Amino acid sequence: MDYIGIDLGTSAVKLLLVDEDGRILNEVTQTYPLAFPRPGWSEQRPEDWRDAVMRGIPALLEGFDARRVAGIGCGGQMHGLVALDAQDHVIRPAILWNDGRTGKQVEELNETIGRETLSARTANIAFAGFTAPKLLWMRENEPDLFARIAKIMLPKDYINYVLTGVHGCDYSDASGTLLLDVAHKRWSREMLDDCGVTEAQMPRLFESWACIGTLLPRVAEALGLPPDVKVVAGAGDNAAAAVGTGVVGEGGCNISLGTSGTLFISSARFGVDPHNALHAFAHADGGWHLMGCMLSAASCNKWLCEEILHTADYAAEQAAIAPEKLGENRVFFLPYLMGERSPINDTNARGTFIGMTMDTTRADLVQAVLEGVAFAIRDSFEVARSLCIAIPRARICGGGSKSPLWRTIFANVLGIPLEQVKTEQGPGYGGAMLAMVGCGRFSSVQEAAGALVSVASVTQPDPALTRKYAQRYAQFSRIYPACKALFASMARDGQEA
Ligand code: XUL
Repeated sequence: MDYIGIDLGTSAVKLLLVDEDGRILNEVTQTYPLAFPRPGWSEQRPEDWRDAVMRGIPALLEGFDARRVAGIGCGGQMHGLVALDAQDHVIRPAILWNDGRTGKQVEELNETIGRETLSARTANIAFAGFTAPKLLWMRENEPDLFARIAKIMLPKDYINYVLTGVHGCDYSDASGTLLLDVAHKRWSREMLDDCGVTEAQMPRLFESWACIGTLLPRVAEALGLPPDVKVVAGAGDNAAAAVGTGVVGEGGCNISLGTSGTLFISSARFGVDPHNALHAFAHADGGWHLMGCMLSAASCNKWLCEEILHTADYAAEQAAIAPEKLGENRVFFLPYLMGERSPINDTNARGTFIGMTMDTTRADLVQAVLEGVAFAIRDSFEVARSLCIAIPRARICGGGSKSPLWRTIFANVLGIPLEQVKTEQGPGYGGAMLAMVGCGRFSSVQEAAGALVSVASVTQPDPALTRKYAQRYAQFSRIYPACKALFASMARDGQEA
């Protein structure tokens, strides 16, 4: 039998057709617009995701026997608030994971309910991208729309709803709402009360590999699939990516270099970062994970190349960076183009170049961006280290990881070997693996990972370059604290209004 894996990302949906031995038979990408209605705001239309999936699946199946498809699994961008009315119509565009409009609500949650209470209830504190502060924002700013909410969904759950008619959510994605009691895997009554919603408005909870239903007959017909195709609950894209790279069970680490950048540490046991700098979420394998998430990672490189340098040839830009310049760059870049989540939790932070002189080149700026993103991931890596979590090696996936230069920079900034797996499609592949488990091809996510995932190449750090980057990182670490008050006052002065 075959399986469809869906990666519902921020720039596009990527669909994979995978056979029962894990071979990728076909791959299709469909893009959709991303709107920034104000600086720091970020929205997408769930209907655009739906249309892209409904177009993408038939395109994926072209030339293949659709009757062989047994299951569908989706990994989706996390935290986005999809609000449906009583007729299951979308009420407003989804407010996305990298939207920074909820600074005030985040402060209220963290100060009024208090960090300790939030952490005891949900294993996490409030961050701007999380779903609960968005509900509070809607209640305050769009009371009429808020009053119409009948169901609260996350992005990939909306796709699952379109496919099956079932309102469901898995534990990994539900963890990022700040409405889930992560330790006990149930909605937190107190959090729902404080956000003015009821359990009836929340989707039903499932493990990621659990089958939530089969295709609606009219949807099956439109897609050209048999109606008994099973749809599993799926996962947040980072948990799905970790499944896809085989980071399951105890102590694995996956770095994802997509629009966001994440450091994902899997664990068989539930645990909380006492300072809540890292998120404590459920994993798609039935266990848990800690995660640091930066809001702009590969998107910083995309922004510099496409918006500023007006080129889509990233490789040519990187080819201009001489190997001996690694660890020697005097230009630094703070990658906070959408504010920042982990670990600084500051919606006012902004992208910043510093250290330029008259001899600074275009290549120095490109290099500074690649390095700035790696340094910002190291910030989360250092938090993990401070919790005595050993990360002797990590897997790396996502669009940015395809650049050999960027992998070299990452391996040396972190000082660890970085492994790429053969099937490097991250969330989409993880989604297909979850579907395989849901359809009984494997008895557990761990078994699927053991059977299907293997390492293709390793980028080793070089001790001399790692030492140089340690010095650069020490300098990088001083830039944000020096700018923090300025960022806040720039936000206060409304310079961006
Ligand atoms: C994770 C997060 C991002 C999105 C990107 O907490 O916000 O990684 O899931 O799709």
